[in-house]
This record gives sequence, structure tokens and C-alpha cells, in this order.
Amino acid sequence: MIGNPLQRISSIKLKFSIVIVAAVVVTLAVNEIGLALNFRAGFRAGVAAIIALGMVQLMARGMTSPLRSMERAATAMASGDLSERVTSNSSDEVGRLAFAFNHMADELAAEDQHRRDLIANVSHELRTPISALRATLENVVDGVVTPEPALLRTMLAQTERLQRLVTQLLDLSRLESGGTPLHRLPFPAVELLDAVADEAALHSPDLTFDVVLDPPELVVDGDPERLHQVLGNLVENAARFAPDDTAVVLTARQTSELVVFEVVDQGPGIPEESLSRVFDRFYRTDEARSTDEGGSGLGLAIARWIVELHGGHIRAERIEPHGCRMVVELPA
Ligand SMILES: Nc1ncnc2c1ncn2[C@@H]1O[C@H](COP(=O)(O)OP(=O)(O)O)[C@@H](O)[C@H]1O
Ligand SMILES: [Mg+2]
Repeated sequence: MIGNPLQRISSIKLKFSIVIVAAVVVTLAVNEIGLALNFRAGFRAGVAAIIALGMVQLMARGMTSPLRSMERAATAMASGDLSERVTSNSSDEVGRLAFAFNHMADELAAEDQHRRDLIANVSHELRTPISALRATLENVVDGVVTPEPALLRTMLAQTERLQRLVTQLLDLSRLESGGTPLHRLPFPAVELLDAVADEAALHSPDLTFDVVLDPPELVVDGDPERLHQVLGNLVENAARFAPDDTAVVLTARQTSELVVFEVVDQGPGIPEESLSRVFDRFYRTDEARSTDEGGSGLGLAIARWIVELHGGHIRAERIEPHGCRMVVELPA
């Protein structure tokens, strides 16, 4: 099939004008030739009309087909099929509309996939502790095992894990939907870091937690509870990976435009290829690791949301030969 001769013109108005002018010129030309050959007026008009129509068909080909295919795609999308795309190689408004339409369809499809993944992940994370609890309870009911305190404690731990997971999911969904506004106020960084370090020391007596402030009277502008949640999670992760008798260092320093927090540990660190993915929901570098130690991979996703709500950035870095540095940058 030959291409549309007007394909490269980028304005639909200009295309229409060209088609109309061409049709008028052809009509006049046919009329003149008809007159010279002494044809009747009706015959001249008929021939001119047929030739003009044929020309319009040829020139305007492809100008409306993207609209029809967009209509088809929109109908398919309305009934849940997000795979349909529009093909258009013209560079006019219709072509650009087709391009924008495809872009929108891509975004919707990605969002849809994201939602499916989330539901699959959530179901998986909930199913594991529920199955374990159910199996144990069945054994107790059948009299196969006696409900010893140790057994009850394991079951309690499972329910706590379930509760933690549900709380985190709710928290994440509220953050994502903008349902929890930040309560920002200026407060001393030392309070935040000391509180986080003291808490962590209680849970990990084999580690030391050092707090470094530069300058010592550094003031942070942010939501103290939410930032506590961020640093608490970073330090909890660090404590989980750090070898015994090493130090986890919490730093806060002021640069010209930023307040930078760092949490550094001497654990194995995060593999290069996972550095950005650890902030995805449910992402863990070691999927096989039992989720009893640590959580479900939501902590850093929540942390990233909180930091970004503050207008800041969070990233993970490797320290060679081993170690992990988590960096939070907030606008000062
Ligand atoms: N300090 C660290 N050292 C090594 N790996 C880390 C560290 N912090 C986070 N990670 C990796 O990032 C993953 C995601 O962390 P997070 O979102 O807090 O989930 P969780 O703590 O529930 O596993 C962890 O499972 C771990 O694989
Ligand atoms: Mg965590």
C-alpha cells in the first residue's frame, strides 16, 4: 500500500486545506477540458466530482484510521483489556493523540500489573504465618501435641508477625494515598538519634550504637515521629546484619542545602544489583531467609515514602570490602 502523501505534514488544518484546494483545482481543470471538448455541463460536473472524490480518498487516507483504532482500543480498555495499542505514523495532531493514547495505555497496564503483584505478595505473606498457626492449632485440637508454653510462644510470635505485617501494609497504603499528613516542626537531631540508638541497644546488646552529630546542635525540620520510624528501620536492619561486637554508626550532618543522615554497619552489605530494589515493597535480598527474623520487606518502602514526603531522597550504598551505608538527605 502506498503511504499517505500528506503523512509528514504536522498540522491537520493544513492537510485539510491542501485536500480542499487540490479538489477545487482538479474540478476547475476537468471543467475547462470538458468545455474545450464540448461536453455537457452535467457530464463535466459528474467527471469532476468522481476525480475529486478519488483524490480526496487517496490524500486523506490514514488521517482518520488512528481515530477508529483509538475507539476500538478505548472500548477494549473499558472492558479490562489493556493490551490494545494504536498504530499511526502521521505526525499531525491525530498522530500525537495516538502517541499520547499509547503512553496512557502503557501507564495503565504497568499500574495494573503493579496492583496484581501487590495482591499476590500480600496474599503470600499472609498465607505463610496463617498456615503455620493453623497447622499447630489443628495438632493441639487433635491432641497430637500438648499446648506447652513454648509452643504458645511460637504461636504468639506468628500472630505478632501477622499484626506487624497488616499494620505496615495499612501504613504504606495511607502514605501512598496521602492520607497521613506530616506534622513538621524544627527539632534537635540529637534527640532523634539518641532515642533510636537507645532503643536499638536494648534489642541488640552485642552491638554498640554510636551517634555522631555535625554540628552538635543540628536542627532538623520534619515530622519527628515519622523520621524516628525511618531511622528506626534503618538501624534495625543494620543491627540484623552487623556481626557481633561491631559498631553501628548513626550520623547527622548539615551541608549548605541538606541535612544528611547516615546509618553505617559492618555487615555483608547489599549486593550492587539490589541497591535500588531494596526500596521496593516486599523486596528482600535473600528470599530464602526465614521471615521470622526481620520483616516482610516493607520497612524500606515505608522509609522511602516518608523521606520523599519530606522532599528528600534515600539511597543505599555499598562499603568495600563489606558494609552498608544508608543515606537519607532532607532539604534543610
Ligand atoms: N544494613 C543492611 N545490610 C544488608 N542488607 C540490608 C540492609 N538493610 C536492608 N537490607 C536488605 O534490604 C531488604 C529490605 O529491607 P526492609 O525493607 O527493611 O525489609 P525487612 O527488614 O523487612 O527485610 C532486607 O531484607 C535486606 O535484604
Ligand atoms: Mg527492615
